[in-house]
Amino acid sequence: MTVSIEQMKFCHVDAVAEIEQKVYQTPWTKHAFINEILDNGFASYYVALAEGEVIGYGGIWVVLDEAHLTNLAVSPGWQGKGIGKALLAHLIREAAGKGARRMTLEVRVSNLRAQELYKKFGFVSCGIRPKYYHDEDALIMWLAELKCD
Ligand SMILES: CC(C)(COP(=O)(O)OP(=O)(O)OC[C@H]1O[C@@H](n2cnc3c(N)ncnc32)[C@H](O)[C@@H]1OP(=O)(O)O)[C@@H](O)C(=O)NCCC(=O)NCCS
Repeated sequence: MTVSIEQMKFCHVDAVAEIEQKVYQTPWTKHAFINEILDNGFASYYVALAEGEVIGYGGIWVVLDEAHLTNLAVSPGWQGKGIGKALLAHLIREAAGKGARRMTLEVRVSNLRAQELYKKFGFVSCGIRPKYYHDEDALIMWLAELKCD
Protein backbone atom coordinates (compact mmCIF):
# COMPACT_ATOMS: atom_id res chain seq x y z
CA MET A 1 0.00 0.00 0.00
CA THR A 2 1.47 3.33 -1.06
CA VAL A 3 0.92 6.24 1.29
CA SER A 4 1.41 9.74 -0.05
CA ILE A 5 1.35 13.11 1.68
CA GLU A 6 -0.07 16.15 -0.04
CA GLN A 7 -1.46 19.57 0.75
CA MET A 8 -4.94 19.51 2.32
CA LYS A 9 -7.62 20.72 -0.07
CA PHE A 10 -11.29 21.56 0.33
CA CYS A 11 -12.22 18.10 -1.02
CA HIS A 12 -10.39 16.43 1.91
CA VAL A 13 -12.12 18.35 4.68
CA ASP A 14 -15.13 16.06 5.20
CA ALA A 15 -12.86 13.04 5.71
CA VAL A 16 -10.51 15.05 7.94
CA ALA A 17 -13.40 16.23 10.14
CA GLU A 18 -14.64 12.63 10.41
CA ILE A 19 -11.26 11.44 11.72
CA GLU A 20 -11.09 14.49 14.01
CA GLN A 21 -14.42 13.45 15.60
CA LYS A 22 -13.07 9.96 16.25
CA VAL A 23 -9.74 10.84 17.82
CA TYR A 24 -10.32 13.97 19.93
CA GLN A 25 -12.48 14.73 22.95
CA THR A 26 -12.90 18.32 21.73
CA PRO A 27 -12.66 18.06 17.95
CA TRP A 28 -12.23 20.97 15.56
CA THR A 29 -15.22 21.59 13.32
CA LYS A 30 -15.19 21.20 9.57
CA HIS A 31 -15.37 25.01 9.35
CA ALA A 32 -12.27 25.38 11.48
CA PHE A 33 -10.33 23.34 8.91
CA ILE A 34 -11.89 25.29 6.03
CA ASN A 35 -10.85 28.58 7.64
CA GLU A 36 -7.34 27.27 8.21
CA ILE A 37 -6.78 26.15 4.60
CA LEU A 38 -8.57 29.04 2.89
CA ASP A 39 -8.11 32.10 5.14
CA ASN A 40 -5.02 31.65 7.31
CA GLY A 41 -1.95 32.77 5.43
CA PHE A 42 0.35 31.45 8.17
CA ALA A 43 -1.12 27.94 8.04
CA SER A 44 -0.12 24.88 6.01
CA TYR A 45 -2.06 21.62 6.27
CA TYR A 46 -1.31 18.22 4.77
CA VAL A 47 -3.12 14.92 4.44
CA ALA A 48 -1.78 11.37 4.29
CA LEU A 49 -3.57 9.40 1.58
CA ALA A 50 -3.78 5.64 0.97
CA GLU A 51 -5.30 4.94 -2.43
CA GLY A 52 -7.08 8.28 -2.32
CA GLU A 53 -8.48 7.76 1.19
CA VAL A 54 -7.55 10.31 3.88
CA ILE A 55 -5.90 8.36 6.70
CA GLY A 56 -4.22 11.19 8.61
CA TYR A 57 -3.47 14.89 8.60
CA GLY A 58 -1.47 17.58 10.29
CA GLY A 59 -0.89 21.30 10.23
CA ILE A 60 1.54 24.03 11.16
CA TRP A 61 1.57 27.79 11.46
CA VAL A 62 4.83 29.43 10.55
CA VAL A 63 5.39 32.98 11.81
CA LEU A 64 8.84 34.39 11.12
CA ASP A 65 11.30 31.73 12.30
CA GLU A 66 8.90 29.87 14.60
CA ALA A 67 6.57 27.04 13.68
CA HIS A 68 3.62 25.87 15.76
CA LEU A 69 2.29 22.37 15.25
CA THR A 70 -1.47 22.90 15.47
CA ASN A 71 -2.83 19.43 14.78
CA LEU A 72 -1.66 15.91 14.00
CA ALA A 73 -3.91 12.88 13.81
CA VAL A 74 -4.13 9.46 12.23
CA SER A 75 -7.34 7.53 11.61
CA PRO A 76 -7.79 4.89 14.35
CA GLY A 77 -7.48 1.92 11.94
CA TRP A 78 -4.17 3.27 10.63
CA GLN A 79 -2.48 4.15 13.91
CA GLY A 80 0.75 2.40 14.86
CA LYS A 81 1.87 1.96 11.24
CA GLY A 82 4.29 4.86 10.94
CA ILE A 83 1.83 7.36 9.43
CA GLY A 84 2.16 9.82 12.35
CA LYS A 85 5.94 9.69 12.02
CA ALA A 86 5.75 10.29 8.26
CA LEU A 87 3.38 13.23 8.72
CA LEU A 88 5.49 14.81 11.46
CA ALA A 89 8.66 14.44 9.37
CA HIS A 90 6.84 16.12 6.48
CA LEU A 91 5.59 18.97 8.68
CA ILE A 92 9.08 19.58 10.05
CA ARG A 93 10.55 19.62 6.53
CA GLU A 94 7.85 22.02 5.32
CA ALA A 95 8.33 24.31 8.32
CA ALA A 96 12.09 24.39 7.75
CA GLY A 97 11.48 25.13 4.07
CA LYS A 98 9.31 28.09 5.04
CA GLY A 99 12.09 29.52 7.18
CA ALA A 100 11.23 28.17 10.63
CA ARG A 101 14.19 27.37 12.87
CA ARG A 102 12.28 25.90 15.82
CA MET A 103 8.91 24.35 16.46
CA THR A 104 6.55 24.21 19.41
CA LEU A 105 3.36 22.35 20.25
CA GLU A 106 0.92 21.62 23.05
CA VAL A 107 -0.10 18.09 23.96
CA ARG A 108 -2.37 16.73 26.68
CA VAL A 109 -0.33 15.70 29.70
CA SER A 110 -2.07 12.30 29.54
CA ASN A 111 -1.27 11.72 25.84
CA LEU A 112 1.90 9.71 26.34
CA ARG A 113 1.68 8.11 22.91
CA ALA A 114 1.90 11.46 21.12
CA GLN A 115 4.59 12.65 23.55
CA GLU A 116 6.69 9.57 22.66
CA LEU A 117 6.38 10.42 18.98
CA TYR A 118 7.43 14.04 19.57
CA LYS A 119 10.40 12.98 21.73
CA LYS A 120 11.61 10.73 18.90
CA PHE A 121 11.98 13.86 16.77
CA GLY A 122 13.86 15.73 19.49
CA PHE A 123 11.02 17.71 21.10
CA VAL A 124 11.57 18.37 24.81
CA SER A 125 9.07 19.37 27.49
CA CYS A 126 9.40 23.03 28.45
CA GLY A 127 6.45 23.71 30.74
CA ILE A 128 2.76 23.37 31.39
CA ARG A 129 -0.20 25.44 30.21
CA PRO A 130 -2.75 24.94 33.00
CA LYS A 131 -6.25 23.94 31.79
CA TYR A 132 -5.31 24.57 28.15
CA TYR A 133 -7.88 21.92 27.16
CA HIS A 134 -10.47 23.06 29.76
CA ASP A 135 -10.45 19.60 31.35
CA GLU A 136 -6.68 19.04 31.31
CA ASP A 137 -3.31 20.77 31.31
CA ALA A 138 -1.11 20.90 28.23
CA LEU A 139 2.54 20.03 28.13
CA ILE A 140 4.45 22.58 26.04
CA MET A 141 7.14 20.98 23.91
CA TRP A 142 9.84 22.61 21.80
CA LEU A 143 12.11 21.36 19.07
CA ALA A 144 15.02 23.78 19.31
CA GLU A 145 16.57 23.06 15.92
CA LEU A 146 14.56 21.88 12.95
CA LYS A 147 15.94 18.78 11.29
CA CYS A 148 14.32 15.68 9.92
CA ASP A 149 15.31 12.23 11.32
C1 LIG B 1 -0.35 10.39 18.12
C2 LIG B 1 -0.59 9.84 16.70
C3 LIG B 1 -0.66 10.99 15.71
C4 LIG B 1 0.59 8.94 16.33
O1 LIG B 1 0.40 8.47 14.99
P1 LIG B 1 0.66 6.94 14.63
O2 LIG B 1 0.56 6.81 13.15
O3 LIG B 1 -0.21 6.08 15.45
O4 LIG B 1 2.17 6.79 15.12
P2 LIG B 1 3.35 5.97 14.43
O5 LIG B 1 2.88 4.60 14.02
O6 LIG B 1 3.98 6.82 13.38
O7 LIG B 1 4.33 5.81 15.67
C5 LIG B 1 5.17 6.88 16.03
C6 LIG B 1 5.63 6.72 17.45
O8 LIG B 1 4.53 6.96 18.32
C7 LIG B 1 4.71 6.16 19.48
N1 LIG B 1 3.61 5.19 19.55
C8 LIG B 1 2.87 4.70 18.53
N2 LIG B 1 1.96 3.83 19.03
C9 LIG B 1 2.14 3.81 20.36
C10 LIG B 1 1.49 3.16 21.45
N3 LIG B 1 0.48 2.30 21.24
N4 LIG B 1 1.93 3.40 22.70
C11 LIG B 1 2.96 4.26 22.92
N5 LIG B 1 3.60 4.92 21.94
C12 LIG B 1 3.19 4.70 20.69
C13 LIG B 1 6.02 5.45 19.34
O9 LIG B 1 7.03 6.28 19.86
C14 LIG B 1 6.14 5.36 17.84
O10 LIG B 1 7.43 5.23 17.38
P3 LIG B 1 8.03 3.73 17.10
O11 LIG B 1 7.10 3.09 16.11
O12 LIG B 1 9.39 4.00 16.54
O13 LIG B 1 8.02 3.03 18.41
C15 LIG B 1 -1.89 8.98 16.64
O14 LIG B 1 -1.82 7.98 17.62
C16 LIG B 1 -3.17 9.78 16.81
O15 LIG B 1 -3.75 10.25 15.84
N6 LIG B 1 -3.65 9.93 18.07
C17 LIG B 1 -4.89 10.68 18.34
C18 LIG B 1 -4.72 12.15 18.07
C19 LIG B 1 -3.61 12.74 18.88
O16 LIG B 1 -3.45 12.45 20.06
N7 LIG B 1 -2.80 13.61 18.23
C20 LIG B 1 -1.71 14.32 18.88
C21 LIG B 1 -2.24 15.60 19.45
S1 LIG B 1 -0.98 16.57 20.22
